Amino acid sequence: MLSKIDSRKFNTLIEISTLINSNYADLVSLLTHILEAATALSQGEASSLLLVNQESRELYFVVTLGSKGQEVKKYTVKLGEGIAGWVAAHDKSIIVNDVGRDKRHLSAISESIGYPSETMIAVPMRIKDQCIGVIEILNKKDGRNFTQEDLEWLEILANQAALAIQNTRSFERAQGEIQLLHQELQKDKGYHTLIAKSPLILEKLEMIDRAAKTDSSVFILGESGVGKELFAEQIHLRSLRNKAPFVRVNCAALPEGILESELFGHVKGAFTSAVQDRQGRFMTADGGTIFLDEIGDLPLSLQSKLLRVIQEKTFEKVGSDVSVTVNVRILAATNKDIEALVERGEFRRDLYYRLNVLPLYIPPLRQRPEDIPVLADFFLQKYKAETKKQFIGFSNEAMEEMLSYSWPGNVRELENSIERACVIGKDGWIRKEDLFFNRKNFFPDHGEDGSRNLKNAVNVFKVHYIQKVLEENNWNQTETAKALDIQRTYLSRLIKELSIKEK
Ligand SMILES: Nc1ncnc2c1ncn2[C@@H]1O[C@H](COP(=O)(O)OP(=O)(O)OP(=O)(O)O)[C@@H](O)[C@H]1O
Ligand SMILES: [Mg+2]
Repeated sequence: MLSKIDSRKFNTLIEISTLINSNYADLVSLLTHILEAATALSQGEASSLLLVNQESRELYFVVTLGSKGQEVKKYTVKLGEGIAGWVAAHDKSIIVNDVGRDKRHLSAISESIGYPSETMIAVPMRIKDQCIGVIEILNKKDGRNFTQEDLEWLEILANQAALAIQNTRSFERAQGEIQLLHQELQKDKGYHTLIAKSPLILEKLEMIDRAAKTDSSVFILGESGVGKELFAEQIHLRSLRNKAPFVRVNCAALPEGILESELFGHVKGAFTSAVQDRQGRFMTADGGTIFLDEIGDLPLSLQSKLLRVIQEKTFEKVGSDVSVTVNVRILAATNKDIEALVERGEFRRDLYYRLNVLPLYIPPLRQRPEDIPVLADFFLQKYKAETKKQFIGFSNEAMEEMLSYSWPGNVRELENSIERACVIGKDGWIRKEDLFFNRKNFFPDHGEDGSRNLKNAVNVFKVHYIQKVLEENNWNQTETAKALDIQRTYLSRLIKELSIKEK
């Protein structure tokens, strides 16, 4: 075999080993590169690289070349089914020079992508003697047959690919653990990691850097879930006060009386339950920063007390006449229309001006689509580590949908969608359906005819649920009935009655 090594093949091998050893972070690009080399060396017209999902005993497509790749990616192949499935189940390489006549061939895939296969070569990829996936090359050019030599070369490249996958998996596992630990550490201190790529947000971060060096109040505005609290953290962390405490108070969470003593403290006996002196949050924040979240909900009586703290840096504990002086920087946030509150007299104008020395508006997620992929990857790494699944990324369809969706709940909604997709999704690509599962469809406000009756809602649920399971089983009714644990005849009756159709 060695005698047959020509310099082109040898160079390809060296190039790939170098890539693998260079800690190439993006697994899909690396596997694409290996598959391109394998296809060129064996002179195939098209090719695919599939990985095994050990849990569901299926193979899913990671890279496809030459055919309409995006179409193929939707498919999964059961272990043992089709030629790739056979290779994975038997952990053996094969050359099939008359695909049409081979009983193992699954014509459904090649027909639906309009790519008839004639000749084929398929080899397993292994990690520690376990088959983790398959590389298959289709149709040798000029109508020739694949040879034993092609097969041996493909096996060498499949080993390289397996190595790359193993490296990436251990690298990702380590990265995931580091990220988790990092988050744990930050969580201990109460801080989050702020992810940003859009010019809109990078510009805000620059503003924060400049604002951080002053002691002026910052008023953070923006819709719910845009990350106002994370920006408040950053202002503190980037300021000279960052060694001193950062104290958060949610002004909407407590009733007026309790909020007052929470903020300013009280002396023993100030009210019936005041059995001892209490230091308020302003005193805890002395030297540091206080973050008054949901400030739009601060009762008017406390608004005047706060105004005095800002103007004179002094206040009295509840039940005391002794003035206390503090050195605290004030950050405030709200998702309400604060100017409308001022107009209606619900928020003091003078306080508003005092707080609004440096206004910081955080734009909604739909106005900064560049942040969506980076945030999505960040949350995917986070929940992948927590759910211990092998996700490789978002399908193109899923990414397109994320980019075009309006995200009324902003980053919080994006994070929740990804967490849920990680819980319900299967190894491989995160699909659009996993992310947008049950949005309107599953729990509709109204039935299709606008009524709220239960039967209608249950039927809508049934349609979507059955459709999802059918899709997972490539619309095979026998398999779907098994998965749903119902009789096949009952399933076909439901399909008819509920007019369930392939989407
Ligand atoms: N840029 C970001 N990077 C990473 N995570 C983010 C980012 N922005 C927001 N998040 C996450 O989104 C969630 C919502 O953020 P946050 O609580 O700061 O929103 P908010 O603007 O204060 O919303 P609300 O007005 O409802 O209080 C949090 O879990 C936060 O960790
Ligand atoms: Mg908030």
